[in-house]
Amino acid sequence: MFSFLSFAAILSLILHSFDAIVKAQDAPQYSSTGLLSTTQAGPVVPDHTNLPATLTLTRPNGPLPTSTGKNGSCKNVQAAGVSGDSQRAQAIKDAFVYAWDAYEKYAYGFDELEPLSANGTNSRYGWGLTIVDSIDTAIIMDLEDVVEKMLKFIATVDFTTTDEGDPVNLFETNIRYIGGLISAYDLLKSGQFPNNYDQSLVDGLLEQAVRLTNIVILGFNTPSGLPAAELNWTTRAPIPGEYTDDATNTTYNATNTASSGTFVLDWARLSDLTGNETYRRITEKANSYLVNPSPPPVYPGLVGTQFNTDTGKMLTFDGGWQAGVDSFLEYLIKDYQYSPTNTTLQYRDFWLTAVQSTLESLVSHPFGFPDLTFISYLDVNGTIRYFADDFSCFAGGNYLLGGALLDIPEITALGIAYTDGCHQTYNTTTTGLGPLAWAWFNSSGQAYNPASENDAAALKSASKRGFWIPARVENWFSRPEPIESIWYAHRITGDPRWAEYNWEIFKAINETSRNRLAFAAVNNVDMPGGGSMSDALDSFFFAEVLKYLYLTFTEPDVIDLSEWVFNTEAHPFLATCAGGQGNGTSAGGSGRSSKAML
Ligand SMILES: *[C@@H]1O[C@H](CO)[C@@H](O)[C@H](O)[C@H]1NC(C)=O
Ligand SMILES: *[C@@H]1O[C@H](CO)[C@@H](O)[C@H](O)[C@H]1NC(C)=O
Ligand SMILES: *[C@@H]1O[C@H](CO)[C@@H](O)[C@H](O)[C@H]1NC(C)=O
Ligand SMILES: *[C@@H]1O[C@H](CO)[C@@H](O)[C@H](O)[C@H]1NC(C)=O
Ligand SMILES: *[C@@H]1O[C@H](CO)[C@@H](O)[C@H](O)[C@H]1NC(C)=O
Ligand SMILES: *[C@@H]1O[C@H](CO)[C@@H](O)[C@H](O)[C@H]1NC(C)=O
Ligand SMILES: *[C@@H]1O[C@H](CO)[C@@H](O)[C@H](O)[C@H]1NC(C)=O
Ligand SMILES: *[C@@H]1O[C@H](CO)[C@@H](O)[C@H](O)[C@H]1NC(C)=O
Ligand SMILES: *[C@@H]1O[C@H](CO)[C@@H](O)[C@H](O)[C@H]1NC(C)=O
Ligand SMILES: *[C@@H]1O[C@H](CO)[C@@H](O)[C@H](O)[C@H]1NC(C)=O
Ligand SMILES: *[C@@H]1O[C@H](CO)[C@@H](O)[C@H](O)[C@H]1NC(C)=O
Ligand SMILES: *[C@@H]1O[C@H](CO)[C@@H](O)[C@H](O)[C@H]1NC(C)=O
Repeated sequence: MFSFLSFAAILSLILHSFDAIVKAQDAPQYSSTGLLSTTQAGPVVPDHTNLPATLTLTRPNGPLPTSTGKNGSCKNVQAAGVSGDSQRAQAIKDAFVYAWDAYEKYAYGFDELEPLSANGTNSRYGWGLTIVDSIDTAIIMDLEDVVEKMLKFIATVDFTTTDEGDPVNLFETNIRYIGGLISAYDLLKSGQFPNNYDQSLVDGLLEQAVRLTNIVILGFNTPSGLPAAELNWTTRAPIPGEYTDDATNTTYNATNTASSGTFVLDWARLSDLTGNETYRRITEKANSYLVNPSPPPVYPGLVGTQFNTDTGKMLTFDGGWQAGVDSFLEYLIKDYQYSPTNTTLQYRDFWLTAVQSTLESLVSHPFGFPDLTFISYLDVNGTIRYFADDFSCFAGGNYLLGGALLDIPEITALGIAYTDGCHQTYNTTTTGLGPLAWAWFNSSGQAYNPASENDAAALKSASKRGFWIPARVENWFSRPEPIESIWYAHRITGDPRWAEYNWEIFKAINETSRNRLAFAAVNNVDMPGGGSMSDALDSFFFAEVLKYLYLTFTEPDVIDLSEWVFNTEAHPFLATCAGGQGNGTSAGGSGRSSKAML
């Protein structure tokens, strides 16, 4: 999941960081290659040097294989022999309860808890975001008293108005609120989790999702059908985003790619649950511009971050897997897994094209670290930059899922390599948590900004661990992506080292981000104790961080990846192959009894 706000923030931080480096004229004038070449290879990471440099991926022919899964209908993507660890799972459940109790005590009904000031804040329209975003985690953890309370609260929310008076961001509303509601409904109707609740409250989850979506859908009312970034909740008028091309000083009505390409999965599920095809049709129309980009990107499949909502044209060439593009690419393979159709076959092929370009052009092994794999991004002109953000770390898990689904070992290898690369940005810092973004010298010792080749701190850090953390991006704000990919790697490869990684990360969170009330954002991952904290506990700490950690230690039939497809905020939906066609009444899943749970 990426956050729309942090996307803008990251870009400005990145620009400022590099400005700061350029201005660091007093840094000692080392020869970069001289300093770096004296360094031994850094920490040992598994051998990734055999990643193919160029390849033609074998394209699967026709729809999904349908008979190899354990259900008989779904393609099995999980490894055999994965086992849980009930003590560790319990520790993560305890962390959820600890933070939830604080939210309940100090911020109940507000969107989010402010964990330092013991207060609530309405960061997203005052509809009780933390409750809606975390109910599915509570369901999966079997916290029945908590779920009951959440269900009652959700029934009282009036999504048709907001007291806050802010324009409503449609992407965030979809992934957190709509996705959370649909997923809670799906989980409770699946027969896989306890459901001793008032069924009118359970049915109310879907009714609330429909009510909210029927307003959000008005944001697609633009000349092209690409959704506007925001909606005026009073007038229901779309409010277009803007993009200014610096080279020509022209401003366009625009959307970023991830914002508009992150509806197809959630709304396909909603169409299947309600029998109303409008949701699927509207989002597939919007996605049609993104998967037929005009003008074409520099590297096939790697679309830029901005599209014109009046014409559907692509405005920039800054492709990759980073914020602004990320969940658009993420959903292409997931929507195909959710339900193979003619349209999602096209998504699958576009995803394969993007992965192929990534293998050929974006994969980068830092200088002195041939075994370490990072994925570069492209600037607005399509030039490769040796720089990545933490959001892009979802990609490792996404490659692992696609590789297993399509039986393409090169893609699985890429997934393992990048998940290890992201892990390296966690396990080499002072706190054991990773930064918002990092930069590196490429295999010939060059940075995309030559000034950093003379930056002493960058050189020292890069020679020790293969990357450096530019100024102002040192924080860990409850971001889930590396944890997410480590969980996919655990379930898909069955290699026990992944579970150990997530346990180490959990311990780091528990040590660094825990305070006397709950958990809080950490300002500097490279300072003892994280330096200081910020007064924020984002709802995705409950929705994503704790869910992926918990599922690392449950038995693997709890949310089997062969049957459940996660939205970008970690809300699982039942795939059609596992009975997710209808409105929940026919859901079968793996038939796991709730007795088998912790
Ligand atoms: C960091 O993680 C990698 C795997 O992702 C592992 O091989 C390496 O030993 C770890 N390094 C440290 C310093 O813990
Ligand atoms: C607590 O939150 C309320 C509502 O957002 C706000 O009015 C109040 O000033 C906050 N109090 C503190 C101590 O931050
Ligand atoms: C929404 O529209 C109303 C009526 O035109 C206007 O007064 C208000 O400022 C708008 N709100 C936003 C957030 O644009
Ligand atoms: C399907 O949803 C659309 C979008 O909200 C709505 O306009 C339409 O009336 C719905 N159709 C039915 C049959 O409910
Ligand atoms: C992209 O190209 C334009 C036109 O050549 C140039 O003005 C601009 O500085 C370039 N942007 C970057 C980030 O290199
Ligand atoms: C860009 O255009 C706006 C008006 O469209 C103008 O106010 C501004 O001065 C221009 N900026 C540059 C750098 O040309
Ligand atoms: C942007 O959209 C508004 C309508 O929301 C329209 O009035 C305006 O002309 C558009 N701007 C451009 C540059 O097309
Ligand atoms: C899907 O594509 C196939 C082959 O092009 C075509 O025969 C079939 O009618 C299409 N199905 C739908 C539902 O459009
Ligand atoms: C390293 O980066 C420099 C500067 O961008 C580039 O010219 C060179 O080709 C790159 N080397 C490799 C091996 O990618
Ligand atoms: C998490 O932190 C709390 C408070 O310091 C401690 O009691 C608990 O044992 C820690 N959990 C783990 C798994 O380290
Ligand atoms: C689910 O489908 C059944 C049978 O089609 C229908 O009776 C029921 O009203 C539907 N429930 C919801 C919540 O749409
Ligand atoms: C497998 O999924 C189907 C839906 O296609 C469902 O009806 C069935 O109950 C599931 N089988 C098992 C053994 O869980």
